[in-house]
Amino acid sequence: MYTRIMHELPTKAHQTRYGHPGAIIWLTGLSGAGKSTLSLNLERRLFEQGYFVTALDGDELREDLNADLGFSPSDRTENVRRVAAVARFMANRGALVIVSLISPFEEDRQRARAASHVPFRLVHVDASLDVCQRRDPKGFYARVAKGGIQQFTGVTSPYEPPPSPDLLLKTGELSIAACIDRLVRLVEEAAPLERRTPQEH
Ligand SMILES: Nc1ncnc2c1ncn2[C@@H]1O[C@H](COP(=O)(O)OP(=O)(O)O)[C@@H](O)[C@H]1O
Ligand SMILES: [Mg+2]
Repeated sequence: MYTRIMHELPTKAHQTRYGHPGAIIWLTGLSGAGKSTLSLNLERRLFEQGYFVTALDGDELREDLNADLGFSPSDRTENVRRVAAVARFMANRGALVIVSLISPFEEDRQRARAASHVPFRLVHVDASLDVCQRRDPKGFYARVAKGGIQQFTGVTSPYEPPPSPDLLLKTGELSIAACIDRLVRLVEEAAPLERRTPQEH
C-alpha cells in the first residue's frame, strides 16, 4: 500500500526561502547531441543567478542509482521512471532540477511530465545522427560501428523525437552560448526568480 507522507512545509515556504518555485527542465536527445554540456552550463549559470539548482545526468545516475539497469526498452523505461521520481521529489521541495537523459520514448517522457506536479519543460536537444557521430564525445559511435555496443539509441535502438517540445534546440546550428540563452529564458518563464527588496531581509 502506498502511504503519502504529509509534509508540514507548504510549497510557499520553499518558494520564499529560495526565491523561485520548483520546476523540472528535461533535456532529451541522442547521445552526443549536447544534453550534458548544456545541463552543466545551465546549472552554473542559474546557480550564479541565485537559483537552488541541481543537474541530474543520466550517465552519472547509471553509475549508482540505475547501475542495475541495461538498455532494453523496459530497462530504459525504468531508468526514466526512477530519474523522474528523483526530479519530482526535489522539485516538489523547491529545487530547479535539470534532467539530461536520452529518454528515447515519448510515453515515458509524458509519464514523467504528468507525475511532476511542478512546471515541467521538455527540451529537445536536437542534432542529426550524422552530427552526433562526427562529434562522438565519448567514442561510443566508433564502438557501435565495430559491433562493440548493442541497443545503441539512434543506431540499433529507436529514438522517438518529441512531437511538441517546449523548446527545440538544434545544436548542430546553434552555439552553446545561444542554446544557454534560450534555456535561461525558458527557466525564467517557468520558474521566475523573485528579486527580493532589501527591506525584506
Ligand atoms: N550547441 C551545442 N550545445 C551542446 N553541445 C555542443 C553544441 N555545439 C557543440 N557541442 C559539442 O557537442 C558535444 C556534446 O556532448 P555531450 O554534452 O556529452 O552530449 P550528450 O550528453 O547529449 O551525450 C560536446 O563535445 C559539445 O562541446
Ligand atoms: Mg550526456
